Amino acid sequence: MAVIESSAPGKIILFGEHAVVYGRPAIAVPVTEVQVIVTAEPAPKDSGLTLVALELGESVPLSTAMQDNPLAAAARLTLARLCAPEPDATLIISSTIPIASGLGSGTAVSTALVRTLAGFLGHTLEAAEVSRLVFEVEKIHHGTPSGIDNTVIAYEQPVYFVREQPIEQLSVRTPFTLLIGDTGTRSPTKKVVEHLRRNRKRNPARYDALFDQIGDIVDEAREAIETGSIGRLGPLMDDNHELLIELGVSSKKLDELVEAARFAGAMGAKLSGAGRGGNMIALVEDDVTEELAEALGEAGAKRVIRTRVGEW
Ligand code: PMV
Repeated sequence: MAVIESSAPGKIILFGEHAVVYGRPAIAVPVTEVQVIVTAEPAPKDSGLTLVALELGESVPLSTAMQDNPLAAAARLTLARLCAPEPDATLIISSTIPIASGLGSGTAVSTALVRTLAGFLGHTLEAAEVSRLVFEVEKIHHGTPSGIDNTVIAYEQPVYFVREQPIEQLSVRTPFTLLIGDTGTRSPTKKVVEHLRRNRKRNPARYDALFDQIGDIVDEAREAIETGSIGRLGPLMDDNHELLIELGVSSKKLDELVEAARFAGAMGAKLSGAGRGGNMIALVEDDVTEELAEALGEAGAKRVIRTRVGEW
């Protein structure tokens, strides 16, 4: 049997994180500059399926993996969906996506794993099917995921996303450039989402009003992206960041990087993803990308990724 290989990109949330958990819209885009690659190789008869995560130095036989192991969950869900017995194979996972930093590393691993295992078994799953299976895995480590990460990564397209609604792909009229600056602080999404849920319980009116304001920004941003009014996006990013500060999900380091980006000439900047750590994003004009990346490095960014949105 031939070796099968699939990949999945990273992602960032451009607008609307957290509010999206509470039914407001959000916009996310794939980041193809970072990737997960999963390769399947045939293994000796009766050896079963082994999952090897190269970066984590982990090798887990499916038969002994814990129920909540996300790699095993992705494999089990795929086998159940295809009504297939466990094959004799080794799945080797390698990734250039930083972990727990808002770039969708876990989601991309599940996505590439589902695709590769299905391919090894002779099937090609539609994006909607991959997204649905990966969403089941997300629930294990995220608790109450909105579903935006599995959607944008499985479809590999910019999306305008509303929880439990059919996916709406976003057409980017004029491509634009973002820098993604990593604080170097890992921040598990589940913890931040739970913390916000507790706070909202104490004062639902305040938090719901903030979510509504974020939802309005997302709708304005959608229009700007679809009409190519890139100049409008920067101030909308700045406004979204302010509201995320009010939600209590920013951090000193994130605010410093956002400030540094603006000071160095970014059109706008905000945290991206769960917050409290992870990444921030800055909208930049192409001719100042280098200086801005340098400014982010000087302000303490551990890694800076440049990505083009809307150019495939
Ligand atoms: O996975 P992250 O760090 O990009 O954050 C997910 C975005 C949240 O809105 C905070 C959670 C969710 O499920 O949508």
